Amino acid sequence: MNVIVVKNAQEGGKEGYQIFRQVKDRGGKVFGLATGSTPLTTYQELCNSDIDFSDCTSINLDEYVGLGPNNDQSYAYFMKQNLFNQKPFAKSYIPNGLAQDIAEEVAHYDQIIADHPVDLQILGIGRNGHIGFNEPGTPFDSTTHEVHLTPSTIEANSRFFDNPDEVPRYALSMGMASIMKAKHILLEAYGDAKADAIAKTIEGPVTEEVPASILQKHSDATLIIDEAAASKL
Ligand code: GLP
Repeated sequence: MNVIVVKNAQEGGKEGYQIFRQVKDRGGKVFGLATGSTPLTTYQELCNSDIDFSDCTSINLDEYVGLGPNNDQSYAYFMKQNLFNQKPFAKSYIPNGLAQDIAEEVAHYDQIIADHPVDLQILGIGRNGHIGFNEPGTPFDSTTHEVHLTPSTIEANSRFFDNPDEVPRYALSMGMASIMKAKHILLEAYGDAKADAIAKTIEGPVTEEVPASILQKHSDATLIIDEAAASKL
């Protein structure tokens, strides 16, 4: 793993932007995207740049079950607000949180991933080491699946909702095996709340109990972390 320590999320966004740029300049056409506060500075740098994704495809990691794209808490809405309105892609895929038939949606999403091998996958990390919504204990060979969110993730994500009871309990997430297929992976982490998860990811054993630790086995993974997230290394 290539670890880049930056002063803060602002600097991290600039580094993240450079990685998108390099992948794009080398002909990358498929970008795996993430939500949460972490990738925001990178998305901001992309929005402020002349990068053009109009011939590219994006595939998002995850979506809450029960929330449609017009719900302002959905990840589809987040992506429109923070990237797609300014930088549209030729085609953007996000799991359908309103799918009636979850099994069918999961199979459909796996087919989308198989048809569009990801050149660059950007990731945040949960305080418990989750990536996408792959909570601790998720098998490393998992593909897209429905997730029952852990109390700690519901609590962490409740800051975006008016009331913790409104946080969905289920999500659809790309699986660990799907994420690992990306040619290049960029994980960003900022703030001391991520320091434990980052120490375990980089220095701990590779274990399903810390989903992000599998990145130790990826041939081309970059971590951009700020000094606070690096403080337990
Ligand atoms: C959610 C998302 C993850 C994200 C994590 C951390 O659980 N599904 O993809 O990495 O939150 O969020 P934040 O970046 O806001 O700390």
